[in-house]
Amino acid sequence: MPSAQICVWHVYPEPVLLQRRAAQGIERLAAEAISARGAFRVVLAGGNTPRAVYERLRGIKTAWPAWHIYFGDERCLPSGHAERNSTMASQAWLDHVDIPATQIHAIPAELGAEEAARQYASAIESVEIFDLVLLGLGQDGHTASLFPGQDYGSERHQPAVLAVHQAPKPPADRVSLSAWRLGAASRVWFLVTGADKALAVRKWRGGEGIPAAAIKPADGVDVWVDIAALA
Ligand code: 6PG
Repeated sequence: MPSAQICVWHVYPEPVLLQRRAAQGIERLAAEAISARGAFRVVLAGGNTPRAVYERLRGIKTAWPAWHIYFGDERCLPSGHAERNSTMASQAWLDHVDIPATQIHAIPAELGAEEAARQYASAIESVEIFDLVLLGLGQDGHTASLFPGQDYGSERHQPAVLAVHQAPKPPADRVSLSAWRLGAASRVWFLVTGADKALAVRKWRGGEGIPAAAIKPADGVDVWVDIAALA
C-alpha cells in the first residue's frame, strides 16, 4: 500500500510574517547543519513566494561558504534568461552573498531537457539526503515541474531527475527532480501564499492526488501557508 504523506500546516495571517519566519527558520536550519556537519545543502524552488523569502536571506548571519545550493526544477531557456528559476534566485539572493560559485549547482537546462536531466543526475548523485528542500505550489497543484497527469517519479527505481515536456505552464520543456528525490531530505518546506492557491490547497487537504502530495519524506512535509491560500 502506498505510504500517506505526513503534512504539518503552519498558518500565518499574512504573507510578510510568513516570509520573515521562513527566512528565520532557514537561518536556524543552516546553523544546525553547519555546526553538525560543516555544510548546508538546500534545494531551491521557483515562484513568487520563494522569491520573497530569498530576498530576506540576503541579510541573515551565516557561514555562506558552507552553503551548497541545488535547484528542484528549471525551465529550458537560455542561460541567464529572466524566466529561469536560477536567474531569479541569483538576482534575489545568490548574487548578494559569498557562496562559492562552485557550490551553486544550477540545472543546465539550456542544453535541453534530456541532456540537462542526465547531467544533473550526476551533479546530485553524491548527496544522499538534502538538508532542506524548498517548494512552491502552483494553482493546479503542481510543485517543482511535476504537473498533474504527468509521471511524478514517485518510486525509487525511477530517475532522480526528469526531463519534462508539454508542461501546461510555459515553457513546455523543463527539468525537475522527481517526487522521490525531492523527498530524500531532512526537511521539505512548501511556501504557499495568495488566494489563487486556495483551490489547490483545498484539493491537497481533501486528499486529492495533486503532485505536491507525492513528496513524502520520512518525517513529513511542512506547509507554510497564509490565510488567503487556506480560504
Ligand atoms: C516554476 C516553479 C513552480 C513554482 C510554483 C509556485 O518553475 O514554475 O518552480 O513550481 O514554485 O508554480 O509559483 P508562484 O509562487 O509564483 O505561484
